[in-house]
Amino acid sequence: MASSSSCRAWHCLLALFLLSSSAYGQLSPSFYAKTCPTLELIVRSTVTKAVLVERRMGASLLRLHFHDCFVQGCDGSILLDDKGSFVGEKTALPNVNSVRGFEVIDEIKKNVELVCPGVVSCADIIALAARDGVVLLGGPSWPVPLGQRDSTTASLNAANSDIPTPDYKLDQLIAAFNKHQLSPRDMTALSGAHTIGYSQCLNFRDHIYNGTNIDPAFATLRKRTCPAQAPNGDTNLAPFDVQTPLVFDIAYYSNLVTKRGLLNSDQELFNGGSQDALVSQYATNPALFPSDFVTAIIKMSKLSPPPGTPTQIRRNCRVVNS
Ligand code: HEM
Ligand SMILES: *[C@@H]1O[C@H](CO)[C@@H](O)[C@H](O)[C@H]1NC(C)=O
Repeated sequence: MASSSSCRAWHCLLALFLLSSSAYGQLSPSFYAKTCPTLELIVRSTVTKAVLVERRMGASLLRLHFHDCFVQGCDGSILLDDKGSFVGEKTALPNVNSVRGFEVIDEIKKNVELVCPGVVSCADIIALAARDGVVLLGGPSWPVPLGQRDSTTASLNAANSDIPTPDYKLDQLIAAFNKHQLSPRDMTALSGAHTIGYSQCLNFRDHIYNGTNIDPAFATLRKRTCPAQAPNGDTNLAPFDVQTPLVFDIAYYSNLVTKRGLLNSDQELFNGGSQDALVSQYATNPALFPSDFVTAIIKMSKLSPPPGTPTQIRRNCRVVNS
């Protein structure tokens, strides 16, 4: 590096610019092309194995990426275990007894460390695993912006306040995504992730018993395995999408149009408000949703911790390097 005496005029500025841009930003799908060329193959084969064992895992990995990126940016903070005085995000209300896939991330990280030790962040592994989960369940593919780094901190408070909950109204949903520079359209497209996966009864009980914007036959169907009195049946699962629970298709949106959204927050997207027209378009034009979803998730994957946040490449995704 140039010493201060030889650091003159624009050469010096250029050097500083290059240095800082390698520390922040500059995310690129080819970030590991030289340092870990087999990364994407390793992730794909490990996720494929996991999805063959349990197809739902494709959905769970997608959700893991969402819950990572909405707290401090996509920084692997959700993976940190509570240990001693360290408090992570795993006990936050939206995560506890709910977020899944940690063992799959561990397995990928183990396999990646064998060939490219100390190079690939846990945050990037989640983003690639989420993409592969979607592809394996029949959804679109996209180039994942890589080069995110792992935080040395986590935020239980932000996990509790920034991850939207199923009782949110449309304006709250829009605000929660806007906080992360995601538009209402991005929000409505990303919510289409609920075309795959399951919810526990405790998250949709209020909607099926007290909701006003719900198809009565659908409510009756869901009540069969979700009793009114908590905590009875709290953890019983129902698919978001009645027809094709583990296929990444547009059924989520056609269900909203017929008032068969599972969560109150799902049905909020088609409830006489600003997103109705877009939901109708997604429900009828099969190419529009995948295309908007890809645009929005690439934006989400680029959310980073604020500049200056200490980061590292964690060796074990569950603990900060000592
Ligand atoms: C718009 C606000 C959102 C709310 C209120 C919300 C809420 C929820 C809830 C309550 C569950 C069920 C959890 C359980 O019962 O254990 C769930 C599951 C899921 N969420 Fe969301 N979510 C939202 C947006 C998103 C986004 C943006 C994504 C991804 C891009 C996503 C992906 C998923 C997936 C794939 C599942 C199923 C996971 C599985 O079966 O393991 N969600 N969500
Ligand atoms: C329905 O709403 C009432 C009034 O807010 C509440 O007391 C009750 O627990 C709700 N029922 C269910 C099943 O969520």
